[in-house]
Amino acid sequence: MLAEGAGAAEAAEGAENFPAKAAVPREHFASRLGFILISAGCAIGLGNVWRFPYIAGEYGGAAFILMYLVFLVILGLPVMVMEFAVGRASQRSAALAFDILQPSRRWHWFSWWAYIGCMLLMMFYTTVCGWMLAYMAKMATGTFVGLDPDGVAGVFGAMLANPGEMIGWMLVVILIGFAVCSFGLQKGVERVTKVMMVALLLVMGVLVVRSVTLPGAAAGLEFYLVPDFSKMFEGGWAGFGDAVYAAMGQAFFTLSLGISAMEVFGSRIGKKHSLTGEALRICGLDTMVAILAGFIIFPACFAFAVAPDQGPALVFVTLPNVFEQMPLGQLWGTLFFVFMSFAALSTIIAVFENIITFTMERWNLDRRTAILRTGALITVLSLPCALGFNVLAGVTVPGIGDIQSIEDFIVSNNMLPLGSLLYVVFCLSRKGWGWKNFLKEADTGAGAPFPRWSRVWLTYGLPALIVVIFIMGYVPKFMLWLGLA
Ligand code: ALA
Repeated sequence: MLAEGAGAAEAAEGAENFPAKAAVPREHFASRLGFILISAGCAIGLGNVWRFPYIAGEYGGAAFILMYLVFLVILGLPVMVMEFAVGRASQRSAALAFDILQPSRRWHWFSWWAYIGCMLLMMFYTTVCGWMLAYMAKMATGTFVGLDPDGVAGVFGAMLANPGEMIGWMLVVILIGFAVCSFGLQKGVERVTKVMMVALLLVMGVLVVRSVTLPGAAAGLEFYLVPDFSKMFEGGWAGFGDAVYAAMGQAFFTLSLGISAMEVFGSRIGKKHSLTGEALRICGLDTMVAILAGFIIFPACFAFAVAPDQGPALVFVTLPNVFEQMPLGQLWGTLFFVFMSFAALSTIIAVFENIITFTMERWNLDRRTAILRTGALITVLSLPCALGFNVLAGVTVPGIGDIQSIEDFIVSNNMLPLGSLLYVVFCLSRKGWGWKNFLKEADTGAGAPFPRWSRVWLTYGLPALIVVIFIMGYVPKFMLWLGLA
């Protein structure tokens, strides 16, 4: 099924088919570090600092992490190289890249996959990022001082129940994101994200040292670092299936793959460095932040005898309790939510930049008009999630949950894995761009080449794995919907 595709000449001819849009001047990153930190910023987000620790906690710590790392290498890394290659070869966002590389426009519809996927991701991300900012402010102003665990839980519940507060913080996030993007790629996105990422790494370092030196931290490190495979089988084979499904989903989510979020950054770099080398650096940074987030959370939980398997509430209920008991807890708590907010904002800014670039190229607009239109659209589309915890709380889907869970489910469990599979087909198939063209682009420049031997895995293994795991994820839902579970 998968063989050679459109040749370089055909691709060049494809580019000529878009003279008006191709004439839009293209801004490149000012430096290689900028490209790596912005792409890492797009990857590093709530997935690393919020979702990863709580699913690692739920599925037994180190054993789950090992499985996740395997998925990262065999699924995530190749797809990231593919997204960068499509971007760099076409020098366009997903709005035009597929038409340029596959001029028969057979893949035209895949542009919309990118646009809708990025939009859906932002529709709930703006709200959850707002919670991080809200908690940073609450920590700094002493909201949790003197509260017992019920009081701490009550703060989270009260915030969710208050539509004004939810929408207010969501709007702050949207304003910050678009304000940064309004200064352009180099002067806005690159400059701000670079500072934010360096600050994030520094704050993270301080928090890790604080957490692992707490008396009693060793038990948390043991839970986190010593694999216990029996924990994955606590729910039998079905429980193990859930863990595999979660690990795969996390590998795609953490790298923002399958919706061309990374593709656009490939379109803004030159040919000096091979793409596999760059992707390895970005995956490395992303993994380091996810793993170190666990080094902050688990030792602190164990030091204060708090169970770390609290699901999504881990960060908003469990941890404020931990900080409340810690000497100088208000300071550490505030720093922790600065760290969380920077991680979430780096993703927001990167994905906003992606949607803005898409809008400029698709509809031939200048940046200002694209920002105004995109800003208005994202604001309106973010409302259902913010209201889904209060006035629209009755809107739920059995087996999935509230509006935020529904949006997250559509993106994370469907668009990211299936979009990644489509990238693989596009880069390997004669009906897409083709293996030779992909390899040529991936390997242009100094650095690690894309492994040739992976072709068999990418042709048969990876698609089969995604399809099987995808179906596995739906089986329990269908059982529930059909009343069989
Ligand atoms: N990659 C982003 C995250 O991990 C979506 O949160």
